[in-house]
Amino acid sequence: MSLSIVIMAAGKGTRMKSSRPKVLHRLAGRPMLSHVIHTTAQLQAARLIVITGHGAEQVESSMRAEFAQAPLSFARQEPQLGTGHAVQQAIPLLPDEGTTLILNGDVPLIQADTARKLVEACAGERLALLTIHLDDPTGYGRIVRDGWGEQVHAIVEHKDANPAQREIKEVYTGMMAAPTAWLKQALQGLTNHNAQGEYYLTDVVARAVADGLSVVAAQPQDEVEVLGVNSPAQLADLERRHQRAQADRLMEAGVRLADPARFDLRGELRCGQDVDIDVNCIFEGQVRLGDEVRIGAHCVIRNAVIESGAVIHPFTHIDGDKDGVSVGPGSLIGPFARLRPGAQLGAEVHIGNFVEVKNSTLAAGAKANHLAYLGDATVGERVNYGAGSITANYDGANKHRTVIGNDVHVGSNCVLIAPITLGDGATVGGGSTLSKDAPAGQLTVARTKAVSIPGWKRPAKQPK
Ligand code: UD1
Ligand code: CA
Repeated sequence: MSLSIVIMAAGKGTRMKSSRPKVLHRLAGRPMLSHVIHTTAQLQAARLIVITGHGAEQVESSMRAEFAQAPLSFARQEPQLGTGHAVQQAIPLLPDEGTTLILNGDVPLIQADTARKLVEACAGERLALLTIHLDDPTGYGRIVRDGWGEQVHAIVEHKDANPAQREIKEVYTGMMAAPTAWLKQALQGLTNHNAQGEYYLTDVVARAVADGLSVVAAQPQDEVEVLGVNSPAQLADLERRHQRAQADRLMEAGVRLADPARFDLRGELRCGQDVDIDVNCIFEGQVRLGDEVRIGAHCVIRNAVIESGAVIHPFTHIDGDKDGVSVGPGSLIGPFARLRPGAQLGAEVHIGNFVEVKNSTLAAGAKANHLAYLGDATVGERVNYGAGSITANYDGANKHRTVIGNDVHVGSNCVLIAPITLGDGATVGGGSTLSKDAPAGQLTVARTKAVSIPGWKRPAKQPK
């Protein structure tokens, strides 16, 4: 059976008060529409049609870039005359068989299991509606059932409902599955004779009843799956619920979060056993934490692998971007450290406060504990890299490498002008600016000698 999915994403989102199209606003670090498309990947749909309108170009280019492999196409809805009119735009792209599932680009947390349940309830021959019971159904379309409450008769929009219908607590969530061939016919018969002068998708329900097509309802696992976003406050509320759910899943797996309400995951976090995460940490992209890793408060960690027993002290920023960052077992990082793309640290490396490492490999036991920069460097085992020392890796046009052998000691406040090599066991005297290689095993100093002037007098203040 061929499954087509239509995602409505043309609406303006007036209440967002933003120039950005609503469905591109981010939840857990990615556009709301991306969440929906990502979820549909689990449904093996033959085609995926996104209805665009407001900010269509921006929405389409952003989704094309993110989902290059998906069977994705777009249908423009201009102007926006209602949800029924939105789905009408997909008609030329829909086949004459199979099932069509309709989702919303601003309802980001729908789960694949629930969508699947809806498609199964449709079974290619029924109209299946996703409904939910709400204590306060204001604004939603009401599910009107027949006398015995078994058969769904119609969906009546809030603005069109009479007082008795407004008492109904079962509402339409905006998602349905229908036999494609029938749906195309039903869409063509829609009118806009209603309180809002819109073509309502929900009017296909009354049409199904008239056509003798049975109408069934399915419910989501969790209310959060059907919550839509119309305002910054709703977006923030959904973000917190989503974060709390992610935090709960991690804690169930044994991860210790100091405070699940102060935890943010914008991507995927995989953890070993006995991981501790203090408050206000943000994880982005793909992050993996080995056994017994400890993350201090206020760390931001993106695209990184942190191996077992490593400790990341508070206020550390790790950003692997495309190249990734790896931190070896037992390493101590921070507080206030910055690891940038391509930082690859071996076992028991120490990186202290205000140390920046970029595109550099540090072998086991290397230490840079204070106020230093290592960029485009290869650092050997047990190197001690002094406070205030930097690799001058950029000559204004090109980047060059610094190679530091094993057991090298770089004193404080040195400038290593790359390309440069410090041989194994070399020592560089504090305050040196080196533009030539330092031989293995020797002391190399490059600074003016201290001069002392006997009998020199400090200037005294002149009397006025
Ligand atoms: C719709 C349902 C209502 C349901 C509610 C759930 C209809 C007529 N009503 O109402 O029964 O309870 O959702 O949230 O369908 N959109 C377009 N083009 C348009 C209009 C809307 O693409 O011309 C998109 C919006 O961007 C949004 C979705 O369709 O993603 C729903 O539109 P919205 O205006 O929020 O529908 P409601 O009036 O809330
Ligand atoms: Ca809505």
